[in-house]
Amino acid sequence: MPPYKCSTLAVHAGQYPDPQTGAVNVPIYLTSTFELTGIGTDRGWDYSRAGNPTRDRLEEALKALEGGYSAHAFASGMAAISALVAMLHTGDHVVCSLDVYAGTVRLFEEIVKGYGIQIDYVDTSNLKAVEAAMRPNTKLVHIETPSNPLMVLTDIAAVAKIVHAHGAELSVDNTFMSPVLQSPLELGADIVVYSTTKYMNGHSDGIGGAVIGSKPEHKERFLMVQKAAGGIMSPFECFLVLRGLRTLPLRIRQHEENGRAVAAYLQTHPKVSKLAYPGLKTHPQYELALRQQKGFGSMMSFELKSRDEAARFLAALKIFTNAESLGGVESLAAHSATTTHASVSAEMRAAMGINEGRVRLSVGIEDKEDLIADLDQALAAV
Ligand SMILES: Cc1ncc(COP(=O)(O)O)c(C=O)c1O
Repeated sequence: MPPYKCSTLAVHAGQYPDPQTGAVNVPIYLTSTFELTGIGTDRGWDYSRAGNPTRDRLEEALKALEGGYSAHAFASGMAAISALVAMLHTGDHVVCSLDVYAGTVRLFEEIVKGYGIQIDYVDTSNLKAVEAAMRPNTKLVHIETPSNPLMVLTDIAAVAKIVHAHGAELSVDNTFMSPVLQSPLELGADIVVYSTTKYMNGHSDGIGGAVIGSKPEHKERFLMVQKAAGGIMSPFECFLVLRGLRTLPLRIRQHEENGRAVAAYLQTHPKVSKLAYPGLKTHPQYELALRQQKGFGSMMSFELKSRDEAARFLAALKIFTNAESLGGVESLAAHSATTTHASVSAEMRAAMGINEGRVRLSVGIEDKEDLIADLDQALAAV
């Protein structure tokens, strides 16, 4: 495709009329197998674990939106992160952001370490800590920026320089931002991963993930992981993500507008403390957010005084739903310690700075005045 801008790519990349029928929407190829044209010959597909035409279209769209060499769709964000670490071998070392999605920590601790891969968690917003953590056998540095739920930023370009100087690769979980708000590959990262369950699908009606690589060897490796390990996205889910992508830039604009308004409201509320949102001038990395991101998004978190206060707040909400996950059109609120970070030990949560009163918001695309009124009445009930 010519170098179209993001909103054009979101509608058209991978989403062109079906050559056979002219259908303007990508057909859902619900087939496990394909007729072969002879012995060892086919029309481009032989079995849907290895490749499926609907998945091809989604992967084409994701590759274009991310500016990658190839994209690969998986059954969930966790399957995508599993594919990423499937590139590693016994004896390899990984450096991971301390404040990542707890499911990533669970995967690393419960499964990946069992394969003899060493993992260190460091505050990757601190470049000296990243440099100090690098070892001769470090193969991968995996970061999330902004982080979950404290919205701490890591300087992708600066970390990429350190990582490359040590001969390792940098992967970025870009789930909170989407390709509309942040382009890790342009900033020097090697691989991008997504939970497409969030903003990319955007409607909270499916689970999926993706890996976008920047080099031919990534394509070879991730195609092999799809075929050999089999954690692929179903054709129907691929269709849902393709449909979601068409409105992604539009949705993100409204998420962002609402996110800014909600943060401005919460910032002055007497019951709210430690509000973390990169779009606030008081955020310690506001300048980095301006430089590295194309917007601030709609994820934020804050502290109430206790777990009881958080429980009362969540129970009183009428528009926001008390639920895990993020990035859907509807606004969600979640108690971090018992949802996204329930699988992390209390000590590690304390080390991360996630206390019992912390609540995370995923601000949706409803009317911003209605959202603020909802938060206001729920805070009054605390
Ligand atoms: C930043 C981030 N990465 C990865 C995941 C895992 O994605 P999934 O739930 O699609 O497996 C999540 C899920 O919440 C997430 O928030």
